[in-house]
Amino acid sequence: MAFRSLLFQSFIALVALVSSALCVSCVGNTTSPNPIAQQYPNLVSGSLNGTTLIVPIPLEQARGMIPKEYVILEKAYRGLIPLFPDGYYPLMVTTAFDHDLKLPAYNFTVGDFSRSALEFPFLDILGNGYSNFRWAPTMMITSTAQSAIDGSRGLGLQIWPAKFDPPCDPYKRLPDGSLYLHSELSDPAVYEARYVTVQTQPSPTVVPFPLTFIRNVTNQPTFANTSLCDNYIRLYNTSNSAAPHAPQPVVGNVTALLEPLTSNQTWTGVFGWNSATAFIEPPVPGNCSSLANFVDS
Ligand SMILES: *[C@@H]1O[C@H](CO)[C@@H](O)[C@H](O)[C@H]1NC(C)=O
Ligand SMILES: *[C@@H]1O[C@H](CO)[C@@H](O)[C@H](O)[C@H]1NC(C)=O
Ligand SMILES: *[C@@H]1O[C@H](CO)[C@@H](O)[C@H](O)[C@H]1NC(C)=O
Ligand SMILES: *[C@@H]1O[C@H](CO)[C@@H](O)[C@H](O)[C@H]1NC(C)=O
Ligand SMILES: *[C@@H]1O[C@H](CO)[C@@H](O)[C@H](O)[C@H]1NC(C)=O
Ligand SMILES: *[C@@H]1O[C@H](CO)[C@@H](O)[C@H](O)[C@H]1NC(C)=O
Ligand SMILES: *[C@@H]1O[C@H](CO)[C@@H](O)[C@H](O)[C@H]1NC(C)=O
Ligand SMILES: *[C@@H]1O[C@H](CO)[C@@H](O)[C@H](O)[C@H]1NC(C)=O
Ligand SMILES: *[C@@H]1O[C@H](CO)[C@@H](O)[C@H](O)[C@H]1NC(C)=O
Repeated sequence: MAFRSLLFQSFIALVALVSSALCVSCVGNTTSPNPIAQQYPNLVSGSLNGTTLIVPIPLEQARGMIPKEYVILEKAYRGLIPLFPDGYYPLMVTTAFDHDLKLPAYNFTVGDFSRSALEFPFLDILGNGYSNFRWAPTMMITSTAQSAIDGSRGLGLQIWPAKFDPPCDPYKRLPDGSLYLHSELSDPAVYEARYVTVQTQPSPTVVPFPLTFIRNVTNQPTFANTSLCDNYIRLYNTSNSAAPHAPQPVVGNVTALLEPLTSNQTWTGVFGWNSATAFIEPPVPGNCSSLANFVDS
């Protein structure tokens, strides 16, 4: 309890600090405002706009990256995507722009920021054989978004302050019509290179992963360290996800060098979705055990 309230205090302190000083660094103007803040005054809420790609990687490679104490619930994802190739695991590549974050009960706002990460859904961290959690150990976050960086570090994530191209949007349109986002370390001189580049185009007819699958993986409780879980919920039923901004199936390429990868990888022809949603998140992370039976309704 003491630990939690300490975290909460520091969250509040940080948010206050950032609201007063730093939040002008990036203000997105193409992502719709947070439509649900007043509906969920005691939760952090916001607009999230970005890309989720599902990369089939050999189970053996997944097993090599995922700590061995976390069981991979292969039956769970096979039940949702029966045609997924045998011997493979659905790695997620997430790039997103976080916009208009608010915690109304405390009258706080958080500046906009971008992030990119490799994430690992369908992990049983409680050893019960059925609860699906998503491991997100490392993330690149806009270097000036100090509250987002500190909050994520508070959850146990390894955070790399990064610069994004485009800086204040989930992606930009290139002359060939494709949608592009690139992130890299903001201070590459200090550390070895790390980067994530995602380039997609619409794939209206070939859709191997239905939106229900994307909704499932994006709404599994996340953790970096199993001592705390983040019950971050994306809501696909607000005006942000309705026409003309409805989620779009895409196909594209990823080039990445980011933990837990130990060398750079290029994945081509991978499928997923561009989607804009609202989200809600508890202001303090919780006990993972309390989310054992979590199902996004
Ligand atoms: C906001 O939109 C204008 C016009 O579309 C554009 O020129 C500008 O770069 C955008 N600003 C940001 C921060 O995205
Ligand atoms: C998401 O971002 C894209 C690219 O900037 C923009 O075209 C779209 O309108 C945004 N969607 C929402 C609901 O904010
Ligand atoms: C919330 O912040 C706004 C803008 O800074 C201010 O006008 C308002 O009085 C604040 N409300 C409370 C309850 O502190
Ligand atoms: C992905 O890479 C392939 C082959 O290198 C290329 O043909 C395709 O246009 C790329 N897709 C996008 C969206 O850039
Ligand atoms: C997980 O977090 C707890 C509490 O903050 C900490 O004691 C522990 O060392 C962390 N474990 C790892 C593997 O980082
Ligand atoms: C890794 O980076 C090197 C150097 O930039 C490049 O030559 C190589 O093609 C990349 N490998 C992959 C799998 O992207
Ligand atoms: C989390 O909840 C479980 C089950 O209720 C309990 O055994 C455990 O002590 C709790 N852990 C923390 C860190 O509060
Ligand atoms: C995702 O699907 C699995 C397998 O059907 C289910 O157990 C889990 O509750 C679902 N998760 C969410 C967040 O809906
Ligand atoms: C949207 O979905 C959330 C969670 O799935 C639910 O709690 C909420 O009532 C839904 N809102 C509407 C307007 O249907």
